[in-house]
Order: sequence, then C-alpha cells, then structure tokens
Amino acid sequence: MAPAKHSGFPCFAALCIILLCLRHVLAQPQPVFACDVDSNPGLKNLSFCDPSLGVQARVSDLVSRLTLPEKIGWLMNSAKGINRLGIPNYEWWSEGLHGVSNVGPGVQFTSLVPGATSFPQVILTAATFNESLFQAIGKVVSTEARAMHNVGLAGLTLWSPNVNIFRDPRWGRGQETPGEDPVLSSKYGVAFVRGLQQSDDGDKQKLKVAACCKHYTAYDVDNWKGIQRYNFNAMVTKQDMDDTFQPPFKCCVVDGDVASVMCSYNQVNGKPTCGDPDLLTGVVRGQWKLNGYIVSDCEALHKMFYTQKYTKTPEEAAALALNSGVDLDCGNFLRRNVNKAVGRGLLNETTIDKALSYNFATMMRLGFFDGNPINQQYGKLGPNDVCTPEHQNLAREVARQGIVLLKNSAGSLPLSSASIKSLAVIGPNANATHTMLGNYEGIPCKYTTPLQGLTASANTSYQPGCANTSCVAAEVDAAKKLAASADAVVLVMGSDQSIEKESRDRVKITLPGQQQLLVSEVASVSKGPVILVIMSGGGMDVQFAKDDPRITSILWVGFPGEAGGAAIADVIFGACNPSGRLPMTWYPESYADTVDMTDMHMRPNPATGFPGRSYRFYKGPTVFSFGDGLSYTDFSHELVTAPEFVTVALGEGHACLTSECESIDADEERCKNLGFEIRVRVKNVGEMRGSHTVLLFSSPPQLHNAPQKQLVGFQKLDLEAGGEGVARFDVDVCKDLSVVDENGKRKLGLGDHLLHVGSLKHSLKIRI
Ligand SMILES: *[C@@H]1O[C@H](CO)[C@@H](O)[C@H](O)[C@H]1NC(C)=O
Ligand SMILES: *[C@@H]1O[C@H](CO)[C@@H](O)[C@H](O)[C@H]1NC(C)=O
Ligand SMILES: *[C@@H]1O[C@H](CO)[C@@H](O)[C@H](O)[C@H]1NC(C)=O
Ligand SMILES: *[C@@H]1O[C@H](CO)[C@@H](O)[C@H](O)[C@H]1NC(C)=O
Ligand SMILES: *[C@@H]1O[C@H](CO)[C@@H](O)[C@H](O)[C@H]1NC(C)=O
Ligand SMILES: *[C@@H]1O[C@H](CO)[C@@H](O)[C@H](O)[C@H]1NC(C)=O
Repeated sequence: MAPAKHSGFPCFAALCIILLCLRHVLAQPQPVFACDVDSNPGLKNLSFCDPSLGVQARVSDLVSRLTLPEKIGWLMNSAKGINRLGIPNYEWWSEGLHGVSNVGPGVQFTSLVPGATSFPQVILTAATFNESLFQAIGKVVSTEARAMHNVGLAGLTLWSPNVNIFRDPRWGRGQETPGEDPVLSSKYGVAFVRGLQQSDDGDKQKLKVAACCKHYTAYDVDNWKGIQRYNFNAMVTKQDMDDTFQPPFKCCVVDGDVASVMCSYNQVNGKPTCGDPDLLTGVVRGQWKLNGYIVSDCEALHKMFYTQKYTKTPEEAAALALNSGVDLDCGNFLRRNVNKAVGRGLLNETTIDKALSYNFATMMRLGFFDGNPINQQYGKLGPNDVCTPEHQNLAREVARQGIVLLKNSAGSLPLSSASIKSLAVIGPNANATHTMLGNYEGIPCKYTTPLQGLTASANTSYQPGCANTSCVAAEVDAAKKLAASADAVVLVMGSDQSIEKESRDRVKITLPGQQQLLVSEVASVSKGPVILVIMSGGGMDVQFAKDDPRITSILWVGFPGEAGGAAIADVIFGACNPSGRLPMTWYPESYADTVDMTDMHMRPNPATGFPGRSYRFYKGPTVFSFGDGLSYTDFSHELVTAPEFVTVALGEGHACLTSECESIDADEERCKNLGFEIRVRVKNVGEMRGSHTVLLFSSPPQLHNAPQKQLVGFQKLDLEAGGEGVARFDVDVCKDLSVVDENGKRKLGLGDHLLHVGSLKHSLKIRI
C-alpha cells in the first residue's frame, strides 16, 4: 500500500468510503452454499438456482450473468465466490485415491471428523483382481466424502483415480496405479469411478462425487536421475500410445462416464499435454465425448511457460491451454493471464464461456446449486458415516484379498498359533503405521501395525533391525539373537515414501541399504519358518530370497492401508487364504542398471538391445511375473467351452478375398458383435477354502509387433475346499483379440490365436 500524500479531509473521506463498503460487505455475508433461497429469497428468481430446469439451461443462465473477472474466478481450483449471486468460494481440489485424503486443500480433518477410512494403496487393491471390490471401495470413499462435505470438511470433486500405466518399476508413483496392464487398469478405473460417481437413485445425470482420471497422458517419470516430470518430453509411438497409454483413459471416459480428466505435466512428442488441442479437444472431447471438465495438473500451466518455455509470453500459454481444451487450472496461472490474453486477441470470451460451462455443469450435477446440502439426497450423511465398522472392515478385507503369496515352501505358511509359541518380528516396517498408507493418504480411522496384528495371534518379540527403510547400517547381531530364540520369524522389510514417492523415482530396485544382509543373516540362524514380508509400491529384486531355502515364504503386501497389520496376520496365521496376484512384473536389478527409465518404448528393440516392458513385451528374466500369486490350496482348470475357429464373413469384393491378408481391420462393420463364450471350470482340489483368479490371456499371431501375450479378461471365484465353479468370459473377437498396428489402427490377425489360463492352452483359428 502506498503512503497517503495528503492528510485531513480526503483521507477522512476515504475512510468513510471504506466503512461504507465494509457495511455493504457485511450486509452481504459470504454465502456458505450456493442458491440458499431460504435465507436469501431473492435467489429464487435466478434460473440457475432452479433445480427443476435442465443442467444446460441453468448453466447458460449462470454464465450469462457473469462479468469477465467473475468468470476468470471460476477457471481455477480455488474458485472465487460471487456474493451478489449467492455463490460461495469453492475449492475444486480434493483427493480420494484410497480414502478421503487431505493432500488437496479441499479436505480438512478436525475434531469433528478426525480421520477417514484408509484403504490399501491402489497397487495392492489392483492385486485383488476383484472388480466388485474396486467399486465397493469407490462407494465408501464417496459416502465419506459426502458426509464430510455436509459439515464443510470436503469438496465434491475428487481428483482420483490415477490410471497411468506402471511402465517402469522405478516410478515413485507406480504405487498409486493399478499396475502395468491396460485391461486391468481400465477395469479398475471404470469400477472405481462408478463407485465414486453413481448416484444412489440411479440417475445418470447426477453425481455422488465427481471423479477425475489422471494424468493424461503417458505420464510416468517423476524425477529420475534429475530428469523431472515438469519438462520431460515423453517420446511415444502411435502404436504404444493407442494400445498401452490411452486405453485406461478411454475406458474411464467412454465406459466409466468419468466427470473429469486431468492433463499431465509432461510433454508427449514435443507438446505439453495441457496445450495439445489434438489430445484434449480432439480425443477426450471429440472422440470420447467427455461429459465433464478437463483440469490441468497443479501448476502445469505455470510449468508450461516458466519451465518448458513453450510459448513466448505467459498470456499465450494461457490462451493455448484454454483453446486446447483445458477448462480449469489447478494453480493461479489463468487468473493472472487470461485478461491479458483476451485483451491481446489470443483468446475470446466464447472459449472461456465454454470452459466455464463444463465446470458449472459438473457442479450442477453434484447438486452444488440446489441449496443447502442437508436438504438434499445425501443430506443425512454426517460424521457418524465416516470410519464406520463396515468401512473399516472393508479396508481390512481389501488388504486380505490383495496380499500376494510369492513363495511358500512346504510346511511354512500358514503358521499355526498352537505350535508357534514365540514369534520374532523384525524389520524397519515391522511396526509401521503411516508407511502402510502410501501416498495421497488421509488421516486413517486408526492403525493396526504388523506387530500389533501378529501379537493378537502369537507371543511376539520385536527388533526393527534398521533405523529406517534406508537401512544404512543393519543391527544384525540383535536381530539374530532374537530370531535364534524364536519358533518362527517374520521380517517386514521394503520401502516407504523416503524410497519411492511422488517426485522420487528409484534408481535401484533391490531392497534398500543393508536390508538384504539383515534378512539373510537372520534366516541363517532361525530354527523355524522365515517369512519375508515386502511392504512396497514397486517390485523388488529379491531373487536372493527366492533362492535361499532358509527363507521359507515371501509375501508382498503393497502399502496395505490402515488395517494392513491385521490383514498380514490374517494371512500368516491362515484366518484367510491369500488370493492376490501381482499387477506388475518384478524385474531383476540388471534391468534398472541397463534400461533408461526415460525410454518410453513398450516394445523391444533388437538393434539397441532394449528389452521392452511389461509381461506383454518383455521376454527377459523376471524375479516374479505379472499374475503370479500362490494360495494355501490348489486349483485345477478345465476348459468347458471354447470354439476351435471363428469365421469372419467379409463382404463381397473385400480385398482379402482375392489377395492374401495377414490381418483385417478390427473396426470394420462385419467385425462388430463377433463374439463367443469361453468357460473354464475351476476346482478347489486342496484342503482350504480360497478365492482364485482366472486370468485369460491370448497370444495373437505375431504380426504388427503384437504383444507376445495380452490379458483378455479376469474373473475371481470363491470356492470351498472340494468345490468347483465356472468362469465365463464373453470374448468380443475384434475388441479382445485384436492388436494395434504401427499406425494406431486396430487389426485382427488371421490364423492361430493361443488362449491360455495358467498352463491350460487352447488354439483358436480366425479365418475368413
Ligand atoms: C422476483 O421476481 C418477481 C417477478 O419478476 C418480482 O415481482 C419479485 O420482486 C422478485 N423478487 C425478488 C426478491 O427479487
Ligand atoms: C473463439 O476462439 C475459438 C478458438 O480459437 C474459435 O474457434 C472461435 O471461432 C472464436 N469465436 C469467436 C466468436 O470469435
Ligand atoms: C508400535 O507402534 C505403535 C503405534 O505407533 C506404538 O504404540 C507401539 O509402542 C510400537 N511398539 C513397539 C514395540 O515399538
Ligand atoms: C511369551 O514368551 C515368553 C518367552 O517364552 C514368556 O516368558 C512369556 O510368558 C510369554 N508370554 C505370553 C503372554 O505367553
Ligand atoms: C535413516 O536413518 C539414518 C541413520 O540413522 C539417517 O541418517 C537418515 O536420515 C534416515 N533417513 C530418513 C529418511 O529418515
Ligand atoms: C470380491 O470382493 C467382495 C467384497 O469383499 C467379496 O464379497 C467377494 O467374495 C470377492 N470375490 C471373490 C471371488 O473373492
């Protein structure tokens, strides 16, 4: 503020004006919610407050009333209230990746709601391969978000889920994703979005909360050897784009009807995703028909100008973003630059109105303009609906279903509490609390640590063995002493957010520091079973443990959420039978030592020795593979129904009738609705009840650089000992058995397709 030049009367006048203004402001207090017609009857006359009108009519009315500065206030996450129209401030940025989270400013925990149910981190949820569970989690998160919203503690726009492909084991944010497979990622995204969004009354126009699929697209490098996401340029082939990176986003929008897509920080093939009209307006809005808003990742527009220096001036970057299809800026970049962009003719108000309309339409669908939320559909929800016993049990159940048993020598797991009189619990994650949540966490209802979980079933003794997960100097002697005196040993090792997180990719993929030494030394003196529990987001090279006969079992528990310790104990003592499967390949350290994380190719390149990525393309050695996971029982498979061949009827004059073709276009009319059913009978031939995931893969003819193997679908069956069930798959030939060619076109290979479920193989010929 500049010092006053004059004293006396002018200053006094100014003071009066300020006081008058103040009175005016006081007369119009900041509204708490929009369209509060009860305390402000004047609002009744505004069409946008009338819930009996359609969304579009209400949005048009609202937009037509706004000045340019008011409009600009609704192009950013901290949206500015418009008192004269009874509209409060709104914070768009809330998170709910695996529970309502206070990572975004839209959520607060207070004494009224001190915590929310914290489910396992997504990578472990993906390992359940249970679609109804994905949706059930989303439903709990949206119920708790609504409950918190009603008492002013949460927004209605959750920027979750993260459906980027976990392309490289080093990625610090791989933990947030459903793994490396596009089919699993797509199914996870669709089910979770439905759980979040679906209105209890089935009205598709209404949103319980608005989900957001992020980060569009080909975003999976955070900070690797100094290469930062803010200016990383992902060079992606058309083929990899269309058969790996885009499918989860497409399914989110087309099948999940998600209300938002977030564009990412990185560039794709030289263009920032938030400034690429083809990716946003062209694909997301044009081809996929997003019914909702496109938001930029936080500060992405700022980075586009200041870090990437992609445009000459900031107002050009602002204009580019809006003209490309961005509707909402997480940040302040548009607030600062839109006015100037309009002034310079780089951007017109029609484009701004369009962006605003998508934003407001989303808020209309959420009931934000319908008055007091307490009087609405979810009005009865409140603090008592957060952290209910049912919700907390579900968090434990997800971890139980997700935990993956990777090794189990005869006589090791499950432990019997009758015979284990003393259990040594060792390791830097053995008494983990916050670590169990992973990132994008909230404050949980409570924690059950592994040590606490195990102590409920056995007499335990505990040694951390390392100061923390970095394990610079393992306390080997104390740990060995403890282990030598116990009937069994559980080592809870792995990582935490100091090893892998947002903005922190790993360089090595072995157990950090001296963890391996600690594990091996402890195993060498143990007299009973030695169970290695790996708590981590990404895979670890634990080949040494796989090979060491003294290490009798290996479990991967992801970041298992607030009830993780209870679920770990449930698995170890056999209260539940593990059924999780790895949603990503576990590579050997040599992979991390030789492959550039920044090489985006999925397919191998024999000329350079690049080995390719994921179970679909990588042929080299693995520590564990996608889909791996053991049970305490055994299952057998038998093919009940599957055709030997499928005939595609080509229309008269089709080129492939007269000349030899290896493949046909999979988007041709005649290819549509060409399907068949596969049935696989599964028997539980062991002694214990268990759930079994049937993974149906196909190996297409090796044309167009096709994947060696790809997931067609998965189904999980829960079977009593001796029980049997049938997994049914409706296979859409052109959708499920086709591949994407070098130009991004879907092709159906003619000839032999090998279908497999475990060791069961069936050859199917596609002919014309
Ligand atoms: C609402 O509109 C009606 C009809 O135009 C008018 O008579 C009334 O005064 C308005 N009420 C308020 C509170 O503005
Ligand atoms: C506003 O800008 C968009 C994008 O550049 C353009 O397509 C449209 O024609 C313009 N509309 C008007 C009314 O100038
Ligand atoms: C384990 O962690 C819990 C929760 O932080 C703590 O209360 C307890 O004292 C810890 N136990 C040991 C043995 O350190
Ligand atoms: C646990 O085991 C120790 C050592 O054998 C023993 O002294 C102690 O009494 C046991 N505690 C319980 C609760 O069984
Ligand atoms: C881990 O412990 C070591 C040794 O005590 C310490 O130097 C380091 O700062 C700790 N690391 C973290 C991330 O806390
Ligand atoms: C999938 O999860 C649901 C919800 O927990 C559970 O009821 C069901 O049994 C699970 N399915 C299988 C096959 O385990």
